[in-house]
Amino acid sequence: MTATDALTGTDALGQRQRAHLERLQQRYADILATLGFDAVLIYSGHASHHYGDDQEASFAAYGHFMHWTGAANHQHDWLLIQPGRAPCWYYHAPADFWHLPTPAPNGVLAEAMALEPLRDVTTPRLPLPDGSRLAVIGNVGDATLPAGAVRNPPALITALDELRVRKDDYERECLHLANRHALAGHEAARLAFTEGASELDIQLAYLAASRQRELQVPYQNIVGIDRHAGTLHYQHYDPEPPTAPRSLLVDAGHRYRGYCADITRTWASRGADPLFSRLIQGVTDYQQRLIAALKPGIDYVAMHDEMHRELAELLVETKMVTSSAEAAVANGLTRAFCPHGLGHGLGLQVHDVGGRQRNAKGDALPAPIRDPALRFTRTLDAGMVVTIEPGLYIIPMLLAPFREGAARHTVDWNAVDRLESHGGIRIEDNVIITAAGHDNLTQGAPLPER
Ligand code: GLY
Ligand code: MN
Ligand code: MN
Repeated sequence: MTATDALTGTDALGQRQRAHLERLQQRYADILATLGFDAVLIYSGHASHHYGDDQEASFAAYGHFMHWTGAANHQHDWLLIQPGRAPCWYYHAPADFWHLPTPAPNGVLAEAMALEPLRDVTTPRLPLPDGSRLAVIGNVGDATLPAGAVRNPPALITALDELRVRKDDYERECLHLANRHALAGHEAARLAFTEGASELDIQLAYLAASRQRELQVPYQNIVGIDRHAGTLHYQHYDPEPPTAPRSLLVDAGHRYRGYCADITRTWASRGADPLFSRLIQGVTDYQQRLIAALKPGIDYVAMHDEMHRELAELLVETKMVTSSAEAAVANGLTRAFCPHGLGHGLGLQVHDVGGRQRNAKGDALPAPIRDPALRFTRTLDAGMVVTIEPGLYIIPMLLAPFREGAARHTVDWNAVDRLESHGGIRIEDNVIITAAGHDNLTQGAPLPER
């Protein structure tokens, strides 16, 4: 039993996990029958090597493998799903004195599944009758597959992606636990910043407090001090702190049994421009208003538009913009201050599958032309999990056209220039839609408890 299991009650989580596996069993049976397959073999995947080197890149298992197993770190494993029979997990357990093989599955998974150790990197021999219609999904590369097997049939993958969009109680609890671990990291990051730590030291404090190594994070943590906070996916960790830091943006998560947290917080130092602190409060306030409106039936694209209206109001209120709020949206200025979407679906992948609205034929529709970076375009429904992550950044290359254009007199460029050294602001929470409305998963006491 892990410390987290002890805190959360293994039995309660175990009961939910059993129900989760039963739901998958039922839904897979329906989907396979509809698409004319007798079974599906899911490959977990394996890490690639650096070119010309014997060292491996980081790894995360295929989402559909994790949907059953939660095992993000299992390489060279296969899972056979055959309606009417227990899933069979062929887990890679080589006799290897260089490495310690990944431990055998245990707990509810071992109760619910047949377990077969695989000594070699190989496709397992399957106990299927001749003539079975088998689909194989995952990054199988040039693996030898059973004769007649269909590789990655698109209709099956679309249906299984869709099955991941609505989360059950087990998945919701895993996401909540991932969030609580991440919150412990964010608190440690905030404290390290107040003590003058560098980006690298803040990253290390985050990892220590959230109890994870860098290989395990669901995405590369973004730890940006000052103008680095204005690079949306800033990827470096400066080992030296600035002498007088102004701002910190941390976008960092955690994985619990495969499920991801994706949380962003932005902090101002005592030396920050007061306008920057005012803007952090403003973005936080409208982020909470956007979350408060979430419920089944709400169009996420309309919420994204609402984010732009809120951003425009804040820019006008703080006198950074002197036109009307409507004009700042219409002329594209708010999209220069916030070029990314309101958020995305979240689950076993940080940018989860199934985010696009589909037409009557089932084809995924592109994002709106004005918002090519919007990853989620669906009408909300109970069980969906989305991030709500409005931002406000000073990105010189995006604001440059407005300095020259017709709207140049409507922006307080002195304020923009003062704030450029603070980079930007993003506030991000993870929210599940419920029948009654929504629940914000980015709350509760941070884990592990100190
Ligand atoms: N952490 C990446 C994102 O927020 O989408
Ligand atoms: Mn996100
Ligand atoms: Mn994020």
